[in-house]
Amino acid sequence: MKSFKIAILSGDGIGPEVMAEARRVLGVVQGKFGLRLDFTEAHVGGIAIDLCGHALPEETLRVCRESDAILFGSVGGPKWETLPPNQQPERAALLPLRKHFALFANLRPAVCLPALTHASPVKESLIAGGFDVLCVRELTGGLYFGQPKGQHEEDGEPVAVDTMIYRRSEIERIAHVAFKAAQARGKKVTSIDKANVLENGVLWRRTVTEIAKQYADVTLNHLYVDNAAMQLIKNPRGFDVVLAENLFGDILSDEMAMIAGSLGMLPSASLGVKETAAGRFGLFEPSGGTAPDIAGKGIANPIAQILSASMMLRYSFGENAAADAIDAAVRRVIDDGLRTGDIWSEGTRRVGTAEMGAAIAAAI
Ligand code: IPM
Ligand code: MG
Repeated sequence: MKSFKIAILSGDGIGPEVMAEARRVLGVVQGKFGLRLDFTEAHVGGIAIDLCGHALPEETLRVCRESDAILFGSVGGPKWETLPPNQQPERAALLPLRKHFALFANLRPAVCLPALTHASPVKESLIAGGFDVLCVRELTGGLYFGQPKGQHEEDGEPVAVDTMIYRRSEIERIAHVAFKAAQARGKKVTSIDKANVLENGVLWRRTVTEIAKQYADVTLNHLYVDNAAMQLIKNPRGFDVVLAENLFGDILSDEMAMIAGSLGMLPSASLGVKETAAGRFGLFEPSGGTAPDIAGKGIANPIAQILSASMMLRYSFGENAAADAIDAAVRRVIDDGLRTGDIWSEGTRRVGTAEMGAAIAAAI
C-alpha cells in the first residue's frame, strides 16, 4: 500500500471548515484507491500568531519538512490587519513557506464550468460553454524577493526600493513547467512580459522562445501584460496556458479567478524543487481567502479546498486516477444541481459546506 504524509495547515476564517470537507473526501479516496494518508495538523497564520506568537512557527515548518505535501487552508483576517505588514499572516506565513521550500511553480487553474457561466461577471455570449485556462506563475523570483529591497531617506525624503531580477535558469524552469502542462491540455502557451519597457521582459521573452523549441507540439505566443489583461476579459476561451513572472502572475491570476465566476471553486498548487517518489513536493491551497464574513457559518464553498487536495494527489503523489475521481465527483454534484450560496442560481439546490462535501465524497 502506498503511503503519504500530509501536513494539514488549515489556518484562519473558513480554512478549518473547508479543510474538514477535503479530509472527508481524502478519507474516501484512501479506501477506494488503496492509499494510506497520514495527516499531521499544524498552526499557521493568525491562529499561529495568537497561540505561538508567529504566523509560521518553527514547529509548523518541521511538520511540513517531514511531509510529502502541504495541504493549506487560508490565512489572515481583520484581527491581524493592524500588525505591521511583514508580520501579517499572509506575508509572514505564505512568502516564507514559498521561499523555504523553493516553491517556484504556481499553478492556478481558472475553470468556468458550463453550468456556472452565469456566476461570471463576463457576458455569457463571450463564455458560452465555459472555459479552462491555467495560469503558471513564477513564485520565488522577481520583485517579491529581489535585493536590494527596503526603504531609506534621500535628501530628507522617504524612498522605497524593490528590485526586479530574474536569472535565466529561473525563467527556464518555470517555462518547462508551462510547456509540459500545455502538452497535457490545449497545447498553447501565452507568455506574458513587458519586453517593450523592462530588461526582465527582454530576457523572459528570449528565454521562453528558446525553451519552446523543445516543445514542437506546443504553440507559443507572447503578450505584453497590459494587453493580456484586456484579452483575458475579451476572450478567455482563446487561452490555454498563461505563463507569467511573479507579480504579473499575481495580478492576472486574480483577474482570471474573477472572470471564472467563483473564487470558491478554484484550487492552486505551488510546486517546489524537491522531488518526491512520484512528483514534486508542493503546497496546495484554495485561491480564495479566509472570507471572514462567512467564517463559522457552515456556508462556505469547500470545492476549492477539495480540488486543491486533488491537485496534491496529482502533482505530489502521482495518483492521477484518484485526482480524476475527485474532479469528476465535483462536476457530478454541480451537474446534479447542488450549489453553495456563492454559485447558487434559480432552480438549483442551496446546500451548506458539509452537505456539499458529503455529496462529493459520496460521488467518488
Ligand atoms: C497570492 C497573494 C499573495 C501574493 C500575498 C498574500 C502575499 O496575493 O497568493 O496571490 O501576492 O503572492
Ligand atoms: Mg494574489
